[in-house]
Amino acid sequence: MGADGATVRSDGTSVFPRLLDLEYPNIERGEGVWLHTADGRQILDACSGGAMVTCLGYGASEVIAAAAEQAERISYMYNHHFSNEPQERLADRLIEAVAPEMGRVRFVSGGSEANETALRLARSYHVERGQPDRWRVISPAQAYHGSTMATLALSGRRALQEPHTPYLAGHAHLPPATWRFDPSGKAALDELDRVLEEVGPETVAAFFCEPVSGAALPAYSPPERFWRGLDERREEHGFLICFDEVVTGMGRTGSWLAAHQLPIEPDVVTLGKGLGAGYAPIGAVLCREHVYEAIDEGSREFDLGHTWDGAPLPCAVGLAVLDVLVERGLVQRVRERGPGLRAELEAAVSGAEMVREVRGRGFLLGVELVDPRDGESFLPHELDAATLVEQAAMDLGLLVTSSHSTPDGYAGDEILLAPAYVSTDEELAEMVERFAATIVEVGRTVRAALAGPAPAGRGR
Ligand SMILES: Cc1ncc(COP(=O)(O)O)c(C=O)c1O
Repeated sequence: MGADGATVRSDGTSVFPRLLDLEYPNIERGEGVWLHTADGRQILDACSGGAMVTCLGYGASEVIAAAAEQAERISYMYNHHFSNEPQERLADRLIEAVAPEMGRVRFVSGGSEANETALRLARSYHVERGQPDRWRVISPAQAYHGSTMATLALSGRRALQEPHTPYLAGHAHLPPATWRFDPSGKAALDELDRVLEEVGPETVAAFFCEPVSGAALPAYSPPERFWRGLDERREEHGFLICFDEVVTGMGRTGSWLAAHQLPIEPDVVTLGKGLGAGYAPIGAVLCREHVYEAIDEGSREFDLGHTWDGAPLPCAVGLAVLDVLVERGLVQRVRERGPGLRAELEAAVSGAEMVREVRGRGFLLGVELVDPRDGESFLPHELDAATLVEQAAMDLGLLVTSSHSTPDGYAGDEILLAPAYVSTDEELAEMVERFAATIVEVGRTVRAALAGPAPAGRGR
């Protein structure tokens, strides 16, 4: 702890922190979209707990009551031995309200577990159907699918994977179809064809991706041409398409699933974050009926489990979250308010020479920073401009999340905003205003640090 308990440093705690040089503000409580620190500061949360989780804000009384009630009745049992009413009802409700195109649901405790399970399901699907050679996964390089070894291997970000590469399967990755590399999506499709040809399509189990990216490339989605081409290749080659909707699911992009805005239907979808909304750790894997049938008509076992899968307490929380989303029409609010929010954010930073692009889908927004000297190169890695923005925002009482992927070569400094769906118009306006002030301040710092000639090349 710091002397007054307001912050925590690695040399004053028994906790093993993520970043040993960071002094962490100590959070005491939350109310709506406001965080209160131990030393009495108020921080406006523009990123749903920092990890795009708390879509209902803090203190959602219906969810808290449902959790308490369930905990009194029974909070835990192992789903190897029993099923339970919250699990059964939540699975029904997810298929009814969120993803009618899906057939079955398996519950887990979070996003990494959901993606790991989806991967095993894709593999099992092919093995059950007599195609044991199918194991490879193809995925966009600039992605994040989780922290387990199998999910880490699904991203093509070498900087993130180091030093664990000896443990990671060598899957193939495509550069993102962004303005920088491939605005039309053609290069990504050509690369997909090349990879399929190289490895042999009969060895490919799945294409795995975020339909709209979260932290790795906030609010980015490939052009429509890519999705249509991917669909054709699935048809031709028989691999599955798995959508990681850990961030985008449960309404974040203005529809229950981001998939509902794209011209393609996945075979498997994963959920996390917004499903528990920060009141319980819960994730889910949803699959279409034909995927389930492969197991149903095969070994009749998909015996992969984690201790908390489908337990009554997290499922009761998921049910309560879903009820609140439906009863308050929050997904519709995100759909209707999202485009305006993006426009307001864009207008507020329009004078900033280091902002190249403001992207947005619903309440998932991304701001791409570039070198102000030419308006397109990545900012120098050493500057770590995204982190400067995150820190300056915090000083101005605003929580945003940064991603600084420059060493991976596919994206540079990006800032992510993902407000709670319950944020009022006044709170959204305040977030935009504080963010614009942050960008002005960091813009000055960046300009001063860069006083020198323009960089030689762009991108990787
Ligand atoms: C798109 C995406 N998938 C998966 C995960 C992993 O989820 P978790 O941290 O709950 O394991 C994350 C986490 O940020 C994510 O953003």
